[in-house]
Amino acid sequence: MTSFITADTLEGHWYPVLESADVDSDPVAVRLLGDDLVVWRGTDGRLAAAPDRCPHREAPLSRGSVVGGELECRYHGWTFGVDGRCTGVPSSGKGSAVPPTAHLDCCSVQERYGLVWICPGKPKATIPTIVQDDDPVFRRINTGVDTWAVSTPRMVDNFLDFSHFPYVHTGTFGTGLDPFVPKLELGQLDDDFYGYVYEVDAANPEEAVVTSGSDDDVVHRLMSTGFSLPFIVRSTIRYDDGLEHILLLCSTPIDDTNSLFTFVVWRNDDHSTDAQEIVEFDRAIGAEDKLMLEMVPGTLALSRTGLVNVQSDKPSVEWRRRFADLVGAEQ
Ligand code: FES
Ligand SMILES: [Fe+2]
Repeated sequence: MTSFITADTLEGHWYPVLESADVDSDPVAVRLLGDDLVVWRGTDGRLAAAPDRCPHREAPLSRGSVVGGELECRYHGWTFGVDGRCTGVPSSGKGSAVPPTAHLDCCSVQERYGLVWICPGKPKATIPTIVQDDDPVFRRINTGVDTWAVSTPRMVDNFLDFSHFPYVHTGTFGTGLDPFVPKLELGQLDDDFYGYVYEVDAANPEEAVVTSGSDDDVVHRLMSTGFSLPFIVRSTIRYDDGLEHILLLCSTPIDDTNSLFTFVVWRNDDHSTDAQEIVEFDRAIGAEDKLMLEMVPGTLALSRTGLVNVQSDKPSVEWRRRFADLVGAEQ
């Protein structure tokens, strides 16, 4: 099996690993690109992320506690500030010198869109911009982070593909959809996303009425779907009445064959319907993708000849080409 997570070039990018609300008074363990990390919040609310391994005897720091904004190791009580500095070694006595190698090598961490983003290595990219996040007409809905037993590239491949809609999404919006996919033109959608614009008539069952804002059997959607390397996909939906529904689909590699998945929604609706009710339909769609993808073993072949491609695969083939380029895979 080809490993993509070991590519140094994946360093410097930002990966969402938790929701902000998940990090409260206790340290939290996360696994990103095969590495175990600990995330905690200091007294000023600032987040810190570091390898989940105490430099003293390798105890998992995520099993410790946060005391006065400092991370305290559960094994011998060494303490660490949000900048990773070891601030105390109780066995050496108060105010004693701390060994220079006792400090933690922290990763960059940011909170954006209700998510905690970690950047291993020196940041060389930015978190993609969702302009609606600063627009008061839109509300943002977070939906929780789930674990999928799926290789992250397979998720991105799936989110860029709509030829699976009539087959996978039979319990939501796919029933009766024309399987024909017209020729897709790819282009830069804005500074951060590359993809395509298309129109679709989607089935609008009763469960979809809160999301679409319409009770017609079929709703017309103007959509765009695009990616921001390495793994972020954005899908925008505009209904004929002006209602917009923006989806940020975030897939993060835990390791080569397991991923974190969360999605964030922005809507310019009248804010009267309960947020969680609005995302129930999208959750059901995601569950259909998860069910399908968890049947597909291994990582996605990155070589040009590893898979058979047809016209409708154009967007995912383009993502795969750029991703293979990024990780230096043979094509
Ligand atoms: S292992 Fe963490 S303080 Fe000893
Ligand atoms: Fe899907």
